[in-house]
Amino acid sequence: MSRRLAAVILAGGEGTRMRSRLPKVLHRLLGLPMIHYVVEAVTSLAPEKAVVVVGRKSGKAIREVLSGVDGLAFAVQRRPLGTGNALKTGLSALKGFRGDLIVLNGDTPLIRPETLRKLLSRHRRGKNALTICSFTTTEPGGYGRIIRDRSGKAVAIREERDLSREEKSIDEVNSGIYLLNETVFPLLGKIRKNPAKGEYYVTDLFGIVLRSGLRAGVLKMDDDEEFSGINTKNDLLRVQSILRQRIVRGWVERDVFFIDEERVYIQPSVRIGPGTTIYPNVFMEGITVIGEDCMIFPNVRIRDSWIGDNVVVKDSSVIEDAEVHDNVEAGPFARIRPGSILMESARIGNFVEIKKSVIGVGTKAQHLSYIGDAEIGRDVNIGAGTITCNYDGVKKHRTVIEDGVFIGSDSQLVAPVRIGKGAYVGAGSTITRDVRPESLALTRSRQKEIRGWTREKSKKAGRKKRKSGS
Ligand code: UD1
Ligand code: CA
Repeated sequence: MSRRLAAVILAGGEGTRMRSRLPKVLHRLLGLPMIHYVVEAVTSLAPEKAVVVVGRKSGKAIREVLSGVDGLAFAVQRRPLGTGNALKTGLSALKGFRGDLIVLNGDTPLIRPETLRKLLSRHRRGKNALTICSFTTTEPGGYGRIIRDRSGKAVAIREERDLSREEKSIDEVNSGIYLLNETVFPLLGKIRKNPAKGEYYVTDLFGIVLRSGLRAGVLKMDDDEEFSGINTKNDLLRVQSILRQRIVRGWVERDVFFIDEERVYIQPSVRIGPGTTIYPNVFMEGITVIGEDCMIFPNVRIRDSWIGDNVVVKDSSVIEDAEVHDNVEAGPFARIRPGSILMESARIGNFVEIKKSVIGVGTKAQHLSYIGDAEIGRDVNIGAGTITCNYDGVKKHRTVIEDGVFIGSDSQLVAPVRIGKGAYVGAGSTITRDVRPESLALTRSRQKEIRGWTREKSKKAGRKKRKSGS
């Protein structure tokens, strides 16, 4: 029978070293709160329960950003009495649990799910009651050091401020990831307050477990980057840059081309197809899928959208909550707003705004238009400056444009209105009633021409001048 697994994430500290009003674990990396990354990694192990320990002040805000994650429990640590006290708080939400518990600091967002899986299986194979994950680093300052005896056996973890001069040079440090089983839970009460800091250190558990005759071990990992903890704004920037690069490099390996891989911002939830080229200053966010062989030009932001294959998004366009099918061309300066569906080979040009509308296959709206709450068929031509007047000040109304329609430039379609299949709307028309299929609708007034008008005008002006004698 497989062993049970639960998780505790420690996020109840005050994060004073960040010098910010925002709780530490809510600081954003590539637009997502730090805690999000840790939770994501932990929940990928599918623990039967995952508890996030939060502070009294920060709790509400942390719960809010994690509200979309299923199966998370929260435990409130009344006072920030240290990581040992935080773990105890977390355990109180796991009453009666027997099995393996994985414990992580909430401030190590670079941790990978596959690393956690590896640590868990090594902990299980090692038959330890407690396993601590360590790594070596050229900058051990601030981390707890792994103290080993002459034979190389780990005997304790000591925090920065309790280190002797010689111990400060130890380069093997505690990652803040722990694996333990139910035999260790009762020992948490044995942690004593650290006299220097006045806090209960979870790291003291290591010595306590050894002294009580249970097995405790240290798993040494090689990649130090992955375990980087964030304590200061500087750490935040450094980790964000590592994270950004890690994501971009991952896509480079999957055959995505970047003109300048230093200047693109792709959230981890985004997927990109091979053969796609991405120019600088592009932001891709949320649940976004980009197809194969697309071209995404500079200054484009795409959020929560699905983009098909061979799509070209030209400079300075925004696409949010939209569906863009194969071979579409959009932009430059296109704004595709939520609820928009651009069907295959549609063309959306500069300064065109589309909201909650379907643009049919091969349909074109190339210049300066607003299309909202519209359903547009295939091979429709929307002239420059066309506006769907969808709002009457109280309610939104729909515009339906059937296949093959031609809308002349500078037309207003006052919704609700339907333009029948193959109909024409003359340029400059304000359409307030439905147009039958294959008709021409025109609402502008007839053109008037007064011949020789300017000549007459200047003659008159001359006469006036002579009369007044000036
Ligand atoms: C901790 C470890 C250190 C390790 C390092 C790895 C201790 C005593 N030290 O140090 O050995 O090398 O992480 O990054 O554990 N927290 C609470 N409640 C509290 C205090 C902290 O939930 O009362 C949470 C924090 O929100 C944070 C995590 O625990 O997510 C770690 O706390 P932090 O103060 O950052 O510990 P470090 O000094 O980095
Ligand atoms: Ca830390």
